Amino acid sequence: MSTSMRQHKKPIISPLRYPGGKASLYPRLRTLVRANAMTEGTYVEPYAGGAGAALGLLITGEVQRIVINDLDPAIYSFWLAVTKHPGEFSQMVKTADLTVDEWLRQKEIYSIGSPENYLKLGFATFYLNRTNRSGVLNGGPIGGMDQTGNYKIDARFNKEGLIERIRLLALHSKQIKVTNSDGLAVIRKYSSRHNTLIYADPPYFEKAGSLYLNSFMDSHHSTLAACLNRAAGSKWLLTYDNVPRVAELYRERRREIFSLNYSAHRVVKANEVMVFSDSLVLV
Ligand SMILES: C[S@@+](CC[C@H](N)C(=O)[O-])C[C@H]1O[C@@H](n2cnc3c(N)ncnc32)[C@H](O)[C@@H]1O
Repeated sequence: MSTSMRQHKKPIISPLRYPGGKASLYPRLRTLVRANAMTEGTYVEPYAGGAGAALGLLITGEVQRIVINDLDPAIYSFWLAVTKHPGEFSQMVKTADLTVDEWLRQKEIYSIGSPENYLKLGFATFYLNRTNRSGVLNGGPIGGMDQTGNYKIDARFNKEGLIERIRLLALHSKQIKVTNSDGLAVIRKYSSRHNTLIYADPPYFEKAGSLYLNSFMDSHHSTLAACLNRAAGSKWLLTYDNVPRVAELYRERRREIFSLNYSAHRVVKANEVMVFSDSLVLV
């Protein structure tokens, strides 16, 4: 285990930067995994994105298997490429040109978006995620097209560090299942299985915007709630932005308000909410 993993409570393993990423929930999820005797079990993220929490739990041995599902073909291609061809992927990282010309080339591959060539699309997705402002795939490059900003296109592309994350991931690739389904189908499939914990982090009501693929309209939020409420006897948890609609949809479930930007030195508005299934043991 690398020094950075021993020192930090939240291991940073995902090669992707994700707006609103949930890697920081790792300590809480670890507590839940242990309290629910899931250490030998499967942990499922139906809306995985950067999958920071999932990878943290797997690599620290807290769970044995993870399922990373995302409906976005670009994100799916990234996870498939990096788990199936980590060597080739690392080589691509190592030799990547960090220039605006290369950015334009990768953007073209991303825009065409052919998942048949998942290595190419997966790498383009990764390249844009690491070179764009805030990792937003449809945004512009750090430093601007003219590269006159304080930070340049390579500011978040530490090749050595990223290759190390890919190497760690590759060591566990047999324990990672990558899928490209609708999150609802994944919840339906896994909620009936024993020894399985589902953590759903769907597109938010208000914040989702253009940060990532937002396939959700109000009806999707209600369908998701119906599906999860039906599965209240299974082990799942859900996070959302703290809007009144969540309290309405999940009025019969236990809920807890929290802040992702919690800091011991600042008072931050708690603007997210966690919802728990009835059979999840809380500590
Ligand atoms: C809030 S983000 C998840 C962030 C993630 N928890 C992390 O830590 O990086 C929501 C993700 O759901 C994906 N998504 C959107 N609609 C979906 C759907 N219907 N089924 C599965 N995934 C979906 C998006 O592509 C996005 O990656």
